[in-house]
Amino acid sequence: MIKRILSGIQPTGNLHLGNYLGAIHQWVKLQNDATCLFCIVDMHAITNWQDPSQLKQQVREMVAAFIACGIDVKRHIIFNQSQVPAHAQLAWVLNCVARVGWLDRMTQFKEKAGKNRENASVGLYTYPNLMAADILLYHTTHVPVGEDQKQHLELARDIAQKFNNDYNINFFPLPEPLIQSATPRVMSLRDGKKKMSKSEESDYSRINLTDNADTIVLKLRKAKTDPLPIAGNDILDEHKKIKSIIIEERPEMVNLLKIYAALDDKPLDKILEQFAGKQFSDLKKELADLMVEKIIPIGKTLSELLADISYIDDILSEGKKRAMDLAAPIWSAVEDIVGFLKIR
Ligand code: AMP
Ligand code: TRP
Repeated sequence: MIKRILSGIQPTGNLHLGNYLGAIHQWVKLQNDATCLFCIVDMHAITNWQDPSQLKQQVREMVAAFIACGIDVKRHIIFNQSQVPAHAQLAWVLNCVARVGWLDRMTQFKEKAGKNRENASVGLYTYPNLMAADILLYHTTHVPVGEDQKQHLELARDIAQKFNNDYNINFFPLPEPLIQSATPRVMSLRDGKKKMSKSEESDYSRINLTDNADTIVLKLRKAKTDPLPIAGNDILDEHKKIKSIIIEERPEMVNLLKIYAALDDKPLDKILEQFAGKQFSDLKKELADLMVEKIIPIGKTLSELLADISYIDDILSEGKKRAMDLAAPIWSAVEDIVGFLKIR
């Protein structure tokens, strides 16, 4: 049974279609299942240096985006990680539970540190322990994550298990992933083999949540495609997934079709039926219409909300209080379990 859902998102700023379809939209769909904690992980963000004034603004932008995308802020708890100190406190205890060998296996660290491992921040290395603290601090049972975070969630389970064993107590529930199989990895409009990303130089590679209708139409018109007509359901395998050879050979076509399916909340085979044999110009036109319908209202609300900082900060303040109330008894129990002498 789903008891408690928590997810985290980095306040990276310049939100785009990938952030929306890959993260926020998935959360919107989950919000009827339980009361959710949505944690804006500013402490994770500084594992790479961030401009301080921008970081503050990006946290607010994320809150505005949650609301604009349809998250009910009255029911759910939205807060920024740094304001609930028990995250950092529990992370320290978990640093002492997790093993160096476990962190050495984390592929995200290897990717992000690259060849320059010696010069990566220690925070980047222990990042997964802080993520485990985010999750375990609330006795979270379910965590919506994308494929790329699955390994970190496995680690959180291992840490919970080892803590329970080390202190001979059944304290932390083992959190389960909620992997939404339909969650698309949205690719760049200029290169179907690269993820859509805010760091890509050309703005034509992505759809920003704040783009206007003309820009969206233009970006789609310029989106890279190939000379063949659009394929039909014959590109799916027996599990209804796109054959890997097609992804390899026609990544831009696959990307546009997947974006269409995700925005329209329909299964991919229906979209393949709809466009089979048509020209890319047809798909681009219809996709632009769909995007304008779905994205423009979000961008508009987002900008309006950002004009009222005190409203946003009130939401974070309320979220902080609610998160602290939930975390306090669990952190207090951890102190007892590990033997910290409490002095009043
Ligand atoms: P980032 O801005 O890259 O830190 O991403 C923030 C969130 O958006 C993470 O949960 C990512 O999984 C998701 N995300 C970012 N880019 C994409 C993308 N191109 N496709 C799908 N999800 C994405
Ligand atoms: N590491 C996650 C990401 O980059 C963000 C994150 C931090 C998170 N803490 C979390 C996700 C707790 C789920 C649960 O996407």
